[in-house]
Amino acid sequence: MGVRSFLKGKLEKHGGAVGLAKHAVAKASGGTPGATARPTSQPAEAAAEIQAALDTLPREPDRDGFVAVATSALLGEGERNTFKVGETPVACFRIDGKLYVVDDECAHENGPIGEGKLDGFVVTCPYHDWRYDVRNGDCLTDPERHLSCFAVKEAGGYIWVGRKTREGTKSRGGEHDDGLKVAEVG
Ligand code: FES
Repeated sequence: MGVRSFLKGKLEKHGGAVGLAKHAVAKASGGTPGATARPTSQPAEAAAEIQAALDTLPREPDRDGFVAVATSALLGEGERNTFKVGETPVACFRIDGKLYVVDDECAHENGPIGEGKLDGFVVTCPYHDWRYDVRNGDCLTDPERHLSCFAVKEAGGYIWVGRKTREGTKSRGGEHDDGLKVAEVG
């Protein structure tokens, strides 16, 4: 399922193992206020830990067609991260003990949703601040758009992502955060 190529891409994107580890630590600490980042070991050690964890992923889908995308330990309470199903990046969240998975690509201009700031059930895209409810993919900035959602479960110490439960809107572009009313989330 390309876990190694995914990691390789991450390593290249973030400047090698040290950069990736710093990025991972920063991401882990950027979730819900009060969320605890995972142990902040040295960057190189952290990168090695991530690699070791990803190396343990089952390579085949389970009997229900779910694909293992991460170990459970890679997504703590109140955290968000980006993992990959085949070649498709997905944004994963653990909130109040429950997992949610949506498109990693923002419906505005494909910003990385898995790197957004998380506040309750709302994630804010790091590019231009469009906001989404991770429970259903609804866009709170432009109600005409939403993200795809995916089935997810946890078993055997892994996070497994299954079929799409909601198809995201395809259109892209438009206003940034200007002139659009942001809906409140219930
Ligand atoms: S790409 Fe997400 S808000 Fe612009």
